[in-house]
Amino acid sequence: MKANALLAAIAAGLVASNSHAGPDKVAAPGDYRKTFSEYYSGDRTANDKQAIRIYANATAIQGKQADGKLPYGSVIVGEIYSVKTDEGGKVMTSGLGRRINDKLAAIVVMERGEGFDEGYPDALKTGDWEFAVFSPAGQRLDKDIAPCRACHHPLADQEFVFSYAHLGQ
Ligand code: HEC
Repeated sequence: MKANALLAAIAAGLVASNSHAGPDKVAAPGDYRKTFSEYYSGDRTANDKQAIRIYANATAIQGKQADGKLPYGSVIVGEIYSVKTDEGGKVMTSGLGRRINDKLAAIVVMERGEGFDEGYPDALKTGDWEFAVFSPAGQRLDKDIAPCRACHHPLADQEFVFSYAHLGQ
C-alpha cells in the first residue's frame, strides 16, 4: 500500500493506527489474585518447561449465556511459570510426577468485549476475545498477539479457551 493510501485507510478506520490497538483493549490484570477465582493449575501442554495457573473473573465463572457464549466482560488470566530444573537443565518433577513452579515469568490475559474481533482477518478471529501479555509486575509488554489468536482460533466450540472444561468446576 502506498503511503497516501495507507494514511487514507487509517483515517477511514480500515487499518489499526498502531500495533497496540487490539491488546490495549485488555485491561491490566490488577488485583486478580484477590478478586478472581483460580480454577486450574498444572504443567503447560504448550511448553514443556513451564507451568500455568489460571484465574477467571466472576463474569467468566457464570459460564455460557443464552447465546451459548461466555458473557462480554469475561476475563481470564494465566500466570506462566518457569519450572525447576536440575544442574543438567533437566526439568525436575515432584512426587506427583508434575513440574515444580519456579518463577513467575509472564502474565497472559484474554478478555471478551463487544467488537474486539473487528479488523482481524478470519484466521485470527477468536469470538471477540482480545489477548495481551504483562510482566510479572503487571506492566504491559509490547508483544505481537497474532500468534495468540492463531493458536486459540480453532477452539470455537469451547469458547477459544483451552482450559474451558475446568472453568467453573
Ligand atoms: C501454540 C499455541 C498457543 C499460543 C501461541 C498461545 N497460547 Fe494461550 N494457551 C495455549 C494452551 C495449550 C493453553 C492451556 C495451558 C497450556 O497447556 O499451556 C493456553 C492457555 C491460555 C490462557 C488461559 C485460558 C485458556 O485458554 O486455557 C490464556 C489467558 C492464554 N493462553 C493467553 C495467551 C496469550 C495472551 C497468548 C499470546 C501471547 C497466547 N495465549 C498464545 C496455547 C497457546
